[in-house]
Order: sequence, then C-alpha cells, then structure tokens
Amino acid sequence: MAVHTWRMAGALPDGDPVPSDGSLPSAAAASAGKTGFAVYVHVPFCASRCGYCDFNTYTASELGGGASREGYADTVLAELALAKSAINPEKVDTVFVGGGTPTLLDADDLGRILDGIDRAWGIAPDAEITTEANPESVSPEYLRTLRRHGFTRISLGMQSASPAVLRILDRKHTAGRAPQAALEARAAGFEHVNLDLIYGTPGETADDFAGSLRAVIDAGVDHVSAYSLIVEDGTRMAARMRRGELPYPSDDVAADRYLAAETALTEAGFSWYEVSNWATSADARCRHNLLYWTSADWWGLGPGAHSHVGGVRWWNVKHPTAYAKRLLDGVSPGHARELLTAEDRRVEDIMLRVRLRAGIPLARVDAAGAKQALADGLLDPAAYGEGRLELTLRGRLLADGVIRDVV
Ligand SMILES: C[S@@+](CC[C@H](N)C(=O)[O-])C[C@H]1O[C@@H](n2cnc3c(N)ncnc32)[C@H](O)[C@@H]1O
Ligand code: SF4
Repeated sequence: MAVHTWRMAGALPDGDPVPSDGSLPSAAAASAGKTGFAVYVHVPFCASRCGYCDFNTYTASELGGGASREGYADTVLAELALAKSAINPEKVDTVFVGGGTPTLLDADDLGRILDGIDRAWGIAPDAEITTEANPESVSPEYLRTLRRHGFTRISLGMQSASPAVLRILDRKHTAGRAPQAALEARAAGFEHVNLDLIYGTPGETADDFAGSLRAVIDAGVDHVSAYSLIVEDGTRMAARMRRGELPYPSDDVAADRYLAAETALTEAGFSWYEVSNWATSADARCRHNLLYWTSADWWGLGPGAHSHVGGVRWWNVKHPTAYAKRLLDGVSPGHARELLTAEDRRVEDIMLRVRLRAGIPLARVDAAGAKQALADGLLDPAAYGEGRLELTLRGRLLADGVIRDVV
C-alpha cells in the first residue's frame, strides 16, 4: 500500500468541518459508487514499529489505554453504521484491509468487519477482498480462516530476503518467512498473493536485491510491489541518518534497483501495470488500487483513514482513542473535509494516471509538456502516436518529473 502513504502518514491537513452525522452534500451522496466503489479498513496496531515507517499505527505501549485491539472490530462497525446512512452505493467492488498489521486482529474479527460491509452495502459476488499481513503474524490455520471469511487476496510485507537488510529495517521476520507465508497462503486457497519489497535500504547490495527478487519469483506469487525506501521525517531511521549512523539512500542506486526489478520480473513473466507494481496477468492486478488510481469513490474506515466520494474528500481523526470516543458518542470520526474543485480533480487524476501503464489520453494533459517529455525519451512514441501518454522505462524512473511537465 505504500503507494498511498498520503492516506495514512504524517500530520493531518486542515479542512472544513465534517457534519456530526457524517452526511455528505446531496449531489456527492447521490453519485456514490457510480464509477466503482471501494472500502478501505485501517487497522492501526503493530507488534513493534519498524524504524522507517510513519504510518498511523501504534504498538501496545504507544497506545496507552482507551482503544483495544479486542474492541476494534466493533468500533469500525459503528463507523460503518454512520457510513451506511450517509451513502448507498449499488455494491462494493473491492475491500482492502491495511495497516498497521491487520493480522494482529483475530481472523474472526476481520470476518465480522467483512460481514458488516456486506450487510451495509452488499459486497459484489466477484469482489476483490484483500488484507495486508506481516509474514510473522500469520499461520496456515489463520490463513484458512481468512479464506473462509471471504478474503480473496493477501499482501505480505516481505521487504527483503537479506537478513542484514531486514535488520536495518527493524523487521521481525526471518528472511525465509515471507516466501513461506506466501506458499501457505496459496495452500490455504488464496489465488492472489502479493509480496511487498523495499529497495535502496542503506547497506543493501545489488546482490541482496537480486536475492530478494529471486525469492519473490520462486515463491510463485502473482503480484509484486517494489517501493524505493522513503526516509520519512520523524522516524527512527531519519534520526539515525541525521546522526550519521546510516547513510542516506542514493537516487542512482534506487534507479539501478528499479531496473533490476523490471528486468528480473519481466523475465519471470510479470508485467508492470503501475510504476511500482507488477502482476502476472490482468486478473492478478490489484483492483482496489486501480480504483484509487482512476479516481473512483471509496470509504476509508478507521483512525486517520481518508475517503473520497463524488469530489468530497475527508479524513478521520488520527488517534485510535479519539476515533473510538467519537463513535462511542455517536459522532462522525471525520476530522475535516474538502470539496475538490474541477481543477483539483483534473490535476489529481493526471498525477495518478500518468503512473499507470494504461496511461492517460494526451488530450487531457498539457500538450507542450507532453511533447517535451516525448523528446526526452520519457514517453512511448507508439502510444503517443495513438493519442495516449504511456511512460517508457526511463519515464518510469522520472515519473514525478513527467507529472510536473504534463500537469
Ligand atoms: C504500511 S505497511 C503495512 C503492511 C504490514 N504492516 C507490513 O509492514 O508488512 C505496507 C507497505 O508499505 C511499505 N512501506 C512502509 N513504509 C515505507 C517507507 N518508508 N518506504 C518505502 N516503503 C514503505 C512497505 O513495503 C510495507 O510492506
Ligand atoms: S509492521 Fe508495517 S505498518 Fe507496522 S511499523 Fe512496520 S511497516 Fe509500519
């Protein structure tokens, strides 16, 4: 998920107040789900905090009293009751439970949340239902229970196959545990399994990353996400870099790693469909993320979760205790919201779609910027000839610059 760090990380922006019943302007409510509807559920608990991570997640000691893992499913179901009275989409196309570590919850609690979503809006029979999981937090039995509750896809945070890199990242699992968990997920009946990798960690060698790529390929998964390490302000890792204990990541190394990922994954039968995401077939692509990237509607349940329905974007209070208290008082946990202007929506749509292999019609972007990006070798000439913007491999390495050019 890391592709949506803006959803969950850092401080919350200011905005307009959210009505206490969580209701939306009537035009937005009426349009809910017309171009697809996704539900995100945030689970803000982790057994320990990885030094690089600034997601909205809490260890038991960070949490203090007030919000418990045991009571969490009921709190989410209380937000869902408010959500149901605010909008009535025809059906739910995808559900994504992310974190934090969703698999710290009892699998039956995750099942109860799914049942609640189904009762509220109806989950489509062919829906994609994903949960993120930490490799060390699942067992074959747990995975079978998730399958029984209707989960169709699992996304495991592997990060690396190198013990030294896992140590620098503060990961708690052994190098072999993530591929093993992927095999267990397949055995439990999960057709769709993703492994997340992080590249460019200080100390990671080209051989380390080649080993990580071999391990994900050998695990037989149908989806891989590979993210360049982002050094987030305020994290333990950022502090270690400031003190000179760890070197800062290098852009050149990150570019080399990206090229290594593209080469190894393509040879193994994967194709990229978004700058950081590869899948073995169209069916294996993450439909939930594709809904985000094509500006569909989604409701984000949980502390700090962001939502977007019909051009209204809002975000919940960040701390699990504050979130639970609002819901206990029967009040929307929405912290603030903003009504996107047509220009906001146009710019966001370009920013997200440029990163997709499916690209964006040239007619929707700045013509001079696109022409320059083509001349710089950043856009595919054949797609350009057909009136569509599609990044070349070099363009994928410089995607942020292309976005600046064509917005
Ligand atoms: C927030 S985690 C949640 C999943 C689960 N807790 C885990 O870590 O396995 C989702 C993914 O975000 C990515 N991620 C988190 N922080 C990151 C950072 N600072 N830089 C790059 N990727 C990051 C990791 O690949 C991770 O698997
Ligand atoms: S386990 Fe995942 S969510 Fe939790 S701190 Fe580590 S990267 Fe962040």
